This record gives sequence, C-alpha cells and structure tokens, in this order.
Amino acid sequence: MGFAVQPARRINARMRLSLCALVCVLISLIAGAADAAAQKPDATETLRGAAQKSNLLMGTAAGADSLSEPLYSSTLAAQYSQLEPENEMKFGPIHPEPTTYDYAAADALVAFAQAHAMRVRGHNLVWQEQLPGWITHRLLPWTPADLNRVLASHIANVVGHYKGRVYAWDVVNEPFNDDGTMRSTVWYNSPGIGFAGQGTRTIEQALRWAHAADPTARLFVNEIGAEVLNRKSNAVYAMAKDFVKRGVPLSGIGLEFHVGPGFDQLDNLDSLNRNVRRLAALGLEVQFTEVDVRLPNNNAANLSVQAQNYKDLLNICLQQPACTAFQTWGFTDKHSWIPAIDHGHGWALPFDQNYRKKPAYLAMLKKLNSHSGTRVRFQSSR
Ligand code: G3I
Repeated sequence: MGFAVQPARRINARMRLSLCALVCVLISLIAGAADAAAQKPDATETLRGAAQKSNLLMGTAAGADSLSEPLYSSTLAAQYSQLEPENEMKFGPIHPEPTTYDYAAADALVAFAQAHAMRVRGHNLVWQEQLPGWITHRLLPWTPADLNRVLASHIANVVGHYKGRVYAWDVVNEPFNDDGTMRSTVWYNSPGIGFAGQGTRTIEQALRWAHAADPTARLFVNEIGAEVLNRKSNAVYAMAKDFVKRGVPLSGIGLEFHVGPGFDQLDNLDSLNRNVRRLAALGLEVQFTEVDVRLPNNNAANLSVQAQNYKDLLNICLQQPACTAFQTWGFTDKHSWIPAIDHGHGWALPFDQNYRKKPAYLAMLKKLNSHSGTRVRFQSSR
C-alpha cells in the first residue's frame, strides 16, 4: 500500500485546494478592484473632479441632521470638495450658554469632510442672527466692555477648537446696510464691543481675534447683496482696501448670490465682473459663498433659465483665479432654506428633491469640463 505515497497525495490534494483558494481570492480581489474602479466616477463626471483641474473648490452648505440620509451623504461626498455648516457653527447653536460650547453637530460635519477629503469653511463668528438668548435677552443691559470680552472669548474658543481643520472662516457676516452704512447690531452699536460709530473697527477687531486664534486660517467678510457694483459693495470694497493698506488680517470677501432667475442680465454680469476684479486687484480672494437661484416653479423653461444663471456665475468665477471657491447654499431642493422664508419660491439648487441632477448641474459640469486646466492657482499675497 503506497503508504509513503498517501501523505504525498494528500499533500498534493491540499496544495491543489490551497492553490484553488488562492486563485479564487485573487480573482475576487481583481473583480472587486475592477468594480470599485467602475463605481469611482471619472473626474469629469463630478463637480469636484471637473473643478479640481481648474484649481477651484466646489462647495455647499451642509446640515449635520441630513448626513444620515444615504443619498444626501453620498452625493455630498461625491460631488463637492468643500462643505460649510449651514447653521451648526453659528453663535446660538455652538455657544448656547455663557460657559457652554456645543461642538457635536459641527464636529460631525468636520469629521464627514475629513473622511471624504473635503475642505471645511467655517460660518460664522459675528452675525446678528441666530444668537442665543443669553446674548439677546439679558436681564441687565450689556456694557461694551463685557460684550467685548464675550466676543473675544467666543472667537478664541471656536476658532481654536477648529484650528487646522477649518481652512477659512466667515468671520463677520453681513455687516453693511444696502446704503453702505454699518448695520445697527448688538456687536456694532447696540451696544457694540466698544467701537460704536467707528466704522469698520468692530470688523477689524473680530478679524484680529480670529487671526490670533488660527494664523493659518483664511479670513473672510461675507456679504449679501454686494455682488454687483452698488453702495453696499462700494462700502465692502472701501473696507477691504483700507484693511489691505493697514495690514488687517483679511484674506478675502465672500459674495453670497441669493438670486432669482433674472440675475444674469448682461449689465449685472458686467458689473459683477468689475466688482470681482477690483477686489482681486487688492490681492484678496473672492469666494462665491451661498449661490442659489430661486424659482416660482420648476417648469422646463424656468429650469433652463436657472441653468443659464448657474453657468454664467460659474463662468465669471472661472475667469478670475482669485475666485477660489464656488459654493451653493445647499445642493438639493429637498433641503433648501428658501421655501420656509419665501413661500411660492424654491427649486433653487443643482439637484432636485430626489437627488436627480437638474439642468443647472449639467450646465455647471459642462462649463467646468470645457474650462479645465486653463486657470492658474491663486497665490495669496496675504
Ligand atoms: O434648530 C432649531 C430648532 O431646534 C427649533 O425647533 C427650530 C424652530 O425654532 O429652529 C431651529 O433653528 C433654525 C435653524 O435655521 C436650523 O433649522 C432657526 O430657527 C432658523 O432661523 C435658521 O435659519 C437659518 C438662517 O440662516 C438663520 O440662521 C437657515 O437655515 C440658513 O439657511 C440661513 O442661512 C443664511 C446664512 O447663514 C447667511 N446668509 C444668508 C443665509 C440665508 O438666510
């Protein structure tokens, strides 16, 4: 009996099984890799991929509550290279009580961004909206000195908490009236932090506090209704020019673009272009920060006009290397702020309420792909 043979045969059988198992594993690995490659969209098939070739960040406001929605998070990660917490970093949500900071929701968005190689843009440190009751309804009126200490501490804590994880901040949001004067707010003159009646000194102080907390962060003043040449954008420009001249730590200006379908008239686009160019000529970044194009309904004609607006705004941004980010205020009509505040309007974003790509999305992707590789990377002088 070939006993001596038996072990050899058994070894051969075992080797054959092992070889077969190895081959099977290899085949599955190759198939898996092929499948993954097949699933990973080509760079030209996503906004973030197409924009990257033009040194442009494609961003969107995002909500922590929506991250658990599979289509929300998958679309956010696939299409955008930047996210900005819509509300989670505002004064009220993040600093609800005098000695309490609640970073949980904002941290979830930052963690999501880090997991998907996305930049995080912080919003916002100084604004007159969404303030907590301990600021707006204090029994004893605030003194400027006390409020100065409160805001200094708020900025130091929040910017410090996100140091190295948030690359840019809207330090001051919407400080000007339409006529170019400073808004009357708790932070400016009611009672303010000690610079009431001193023009943009409040803004300057907030920028200096933010810079001290994170010297590497890009610091923006973000404004609504200052996209084209007007009294408000002239006030923004005058502030920016003064700050640059005096070495105040301002990196750029955020232009919001909460607009309607009639925005992209030729005179508006020309005026916008001139406004962006004059800010860029100061050496500043200009970021389009909250773009949405609201509609009265989503019929085909309106969706087509909306797509043209998105394309025209993106085109102006692409023409200026200083325009380093194009960000919409949300990305799906399912989660847009507009229907709640402007009844009868909505459908403002690039994806519909079922996360289907709208003409606006397709127009932007086409514009990005037609523009790829023709833009130098913005080199900050500040
Ligand atoms: O989270 C509370 C919830 O606990 C409470 O039950 C509910 C009802 O009172 O309110 C919830 O907070 C709301 C918050 O959105 C989150 O949904 C606030 O009331 C509501 O005022 C807040 O609206 C936000 C608004 O800024 C004011 O902060 C919008 O979502 C947000 O899209 C909008 O975004 C602003 C930018 O920050 C600055 N530029 C303009 C833009 C549009 O207004």
